[in-house]
Amino acid sequence: MLIVFLGAPGAGKGTQAKSLSEKKGLTHLATGDMLRAEVAVESELGMKARSFMDRGDLVPDDVMIGMISGRLKDTVSGGLLLDGFPRTVAQAEALDEALEAAGAGVDRAIYFEVSEEELIRRLAGRSTCPDCQRAYHDTFNPPATADGCDDCGTTLLRREDDRPEAVRNRLVVYETQTTPVLDHYRTAGKLVSVDGEQSIDAVQTVLAAAVE
Ligand code: AP5
Ligand code: MG
Repeated sequence: MLIVFLGAPGAGKGTQAKSLSEKKGLTHLATGDMLRAEVAVESELGMKARSFMDRGDLVPDDVMIGMISGRLKDTVSGGLLLDGFPRTVAQAEALDEALEAAGAGVDRAIYFEVSEEELIRRLAGRSTCPDCQRAYHDTFNPPATADGCDDCGTTLLRREDDRPEAVRNRLVVYETQTTPVLDHYRTAGKLVSVDGEQSIDAVQTVLAAAVE
């Protein structure tokens, strides 16, 4: 099974991807998490990506397509959940080509629908584990102990791109560059919309039905 998660920044993609991939035994590839890991070790790729990410702009397509193509080969046969890729039409077309060459294709593209006011509330209150990338929220999803990740105990941080000015840019970038990807999958008959504005547990239930 190959699932793509689509939705604006803060829509809950990462939160739901973690539980669904564990339940279904899918490999969870999150391009934002992969990029943040490159930034953390100050690799050449990380250094190139950092300024785009901090501003809330997209990292150029050729970099992203190169990064994901390398991982597709090893992971596609076991079942895959893509979170944060594709987010331009060029990326979606490159993904289709790479999958076709591997004799595979996207089964479902899940679109998490969330209003802008709710996205802003979620990003303003988010803290993230820099080690395992699990996301928390001050009000909606707090960690069990203050400031430590429930899974690995690492001290939680605020993401650089969750600053209000970066959030404003990310929402514009999403609207202009990523919403056309919804049409790409709608035309292919693969788009399934999910009401992402409900509680985390309620979204999880609707999502489970959507991927069956
Ligand atoms: P990326 O890391 O992919 O960020 P994003 O798409 O902007 O999405 P987020 O991770 O911010 O949100 P999410 O939907 O995962 O929400 P979450 O579950 O955390 O990308 C970061 C950057 O990397 C990009 O800006 C770009 O520069 C670069 N990049 C990455 N991929 C790229 C690509 N393909 N091409 C080019 N550049 C790329 O939840 C958010 C908050 O809400 C949390 O606090 C959570 O606890 C809470 N929450 C979740 N669900 C609910 C709920 N149902 N109710 C209440 N609260 C909830
Ligand atoms: Mg995420």
